[in-house]
Amino acid sequence: MSRTMVRVETIPALRRTLGEWRLRDERIALVPTMGNLHAGHLQLVRRAREIGDRVVVSIFVNPTQFGEGEDFGAYPRTLEEDAQALKGAGADLLFSPSVAEVYRRPQEQLSLIHLPGISEMLCGASRPGHFDGVATVVCKLFNMVQPGLAVFGEKDFQQLLVIRRMTEDLDLPVEIVGVPTVREKDGLAMSSRNAYLRPEERKIAPNLHRILREVADKVRAGEGNLVGLKSIARAELTELGFRPDYLEIRRAADLAPPKPEDRRLVVLAAAHLGRARLIDNLPFRR
Ligand code: PAF
Repeated sequence: MSRTMVRVETIPALRRTLGEWRLRDERIALVPTMGNLHAGHLQLVRRAREIGDRVVVSIFVNPTQFGEGEDFGAYPRTLEEDAQALKGAGADLLFSPSVAEVYRRPQEQLSLIHLPGISEMLCGASRPGHFDGVATVVCKLFNMVQPGLAVFGEKDFQQLLVIRRMTEDLDLPVEIVGVPTVREKDGLAMSSRNAYLRPEERKIAPNLHRILREVADKVRAGEGNLVGLKSIARAELTELGFRPDYLEIRRAADLAPPKPEDRRLVVLAAAHLGRARLIDNLPFRR
């Protein structure tokens, strides 16, 4: 499907187009991205297309969610290719603002949204301030676009929970829709950062998903020694050449350590492989 797609870079231009759609009572679906789109992103756009009348995709490499020494400068920027792909996937509007359009004050003067607890563990512990940047930019995008719904990938499981909680805590009138992780044939979760992998690392990378699957299978089969399971899995990752950041089994609803009676769990991991920091997760029931 190829259709007309409006491209805007400023908030006033965005509001003009959205205003016309809103007058016609059309339900606006937002897909926030940082660009360098792959099949996983296009799946989010297709889901948005199914449930919304109009699909807005934002492409914005958000500086406030990158820490010092992280890959903000190197993050792949492929706007023209992304625009072509979005047209094909059925997006109605591409919003690609500049940093100055989104953040009109110096970084140290910005108002930031902080969610205690959920944003401080796992990826939040290894990347302090990361989820403050994510919550802030997503809240700003919600205010700019005022969508009825917004679509996010479950690959960023903790991010999805942070956004759900922020939306609830701040009474934002946006339905949050999660879409299951899209994987390569060998199981590797699709991610823009996979481009950082060298050919020999790319061959090792799917083991992350395999190990998560094995952990989930063992817990499902009744293994109760979660501490032992996690340390064996981390050792296997290290043996394969990963530098594990964390590998945890948590309660799926809030990422708290699971109690024996909890049924809906998720195993999550982050591990460095060469230049890439890979994250993955597998929700499951026991
Ligand atoms: O998942 C992402 O690409 C980003 O974290 C998001 C949600 C677009 C916010 O910058």
